[in-house]
Amino acid sequence: MTTPLIEATALSKHFEVGGGGLFGLRKPATLKAVDEVSFTIKAGETLGLVGESGCGKSTLGRLLLRLIEPTSGRVAFDGNEITGIGRMEMRGFRRSMQIIFQDPYGALNPRMSVEDIIAEPLLIHGARMNAETRGKVAQMLEKVGLPARALDRFPHEFSGGQRQRIGIARALVLHPRLIVCDEAVSALDVSVQAQIVNLLQDLQREMGLTYLFIAHDLSVVRHISDRVAVMYLGKMVEVADKATIYAAPLHPYTQALIAAVPAQHPAQRSRGKRQRIVGDIPSALNPPSGCRFHTRCPHVMPVCRETAPPLRTTAPGHQVACHLIDP
Ligand SMILES: Nc1ncnc2c1ncn2[C@@H]1O[C@H](COP(=O)(O)OP(=O)(O)O)[C@@H](O)[C@H]1O
Ligand code: SF4
Ligand SMILES: [Mg+2]
Repeated sequence: MTTPLIEATALSKHFEVGGGGLFGLRKPATLKAVDEVSFTIKAGETLGLVGESGCGKSTLGRLLLRLIEPTSGRVAFDGNEITGIGRMEMRGFRRSMQIIFQDPYGALNPRMSVEDIIAEPLLIHGARMNAETRGKVAQMLEKVGLPARALDRFPHEFSGGQRQRIGIARALVLHPRLIVCDEAVSALDVSVQAQIVNLLQDLQREMGLTYLFIAHDLSVVRHISDRVAVMYLGKMVEVADKATIYAAPLHPYTQALIAAVPAQHPAQRSRGKRQRIVGDIPSALNPPSGCRFHTRCPHVMPVCRETAPPLRTTAPGHQVACHLIDP
């Protein structure tokens, strides 16, 4: 077996929140944003990561890139452990791993020209603003489908889709290997979403990129993903290839998410009859005991309230965490 590009093992991130407050009365508490999550991403593949807002997707993406430090667990990049390594050693990996955010406007400095924005990662990694750097920036701009005259313009002069193209050019200018796309198209109109997804796929083929593609709903990740991972309250509940996730999901939460996706063909309409999800997502600060989905699950059994189901392999490449499923 070839080494995966990313291997996360029992990765956790806990935030200490509360405490303080007036007279220090609020009790400090531990929020388990990501709780013992393990998975791999192969070189050249796209893993879609879905789940409702607050379930820990962004935290997990940031952990992979070591933008935040894990509470416990490990991340290996191309077979190299990057969890405990020092700043200098990490620098070598930094340029290989980049992130694209939902809000390119927030991520792009409004006072910098497009040329300076795209050149900045090169300068941070030791390049000078010379003809070679300008050449790389111009080439990248063309790759993302923006005209050369955009170089001396500023972010506010562009539409949302064009700004996302600038964000992509900035993320790709160092020729990274892994890109975390954190809700990168979630704020765009559906037609613009499709254009950006197509662009990301073209760039993936051309530059041999590997993606972790984060979105809160399953319809957005459908086109681009090879495999899909589903998270619920800090836990990974199901991982499978795309065809399996959409046609034969096993976890009741995944089934509910699929039921919420608008049908593309009339033949798929029967999906709407599947159990839809009810109730609000519980607080991550005080998650339900046992299976965290038990307060909303239509199939809940007594064991579900007591014991958390482990993520188990049910078929090659298919993992599910649910007491209903016998491995
Ligand atoms: N820096 C932080 N301090 C405290 N809590 C945080 C912090 N970052 C995220 N959280 C909490 O962790 C949980 C997961 O957040 P996040 O990873 O942003 O979820 P998602 O991206 O799936 O919406 C949420 O409950 C969020 O409030
Ligand atoms: S473990 Fe129980 S509560 Fe959790 S998803 Fe499975 S059946 Fe539902
Ligand atoms: Mg997020």
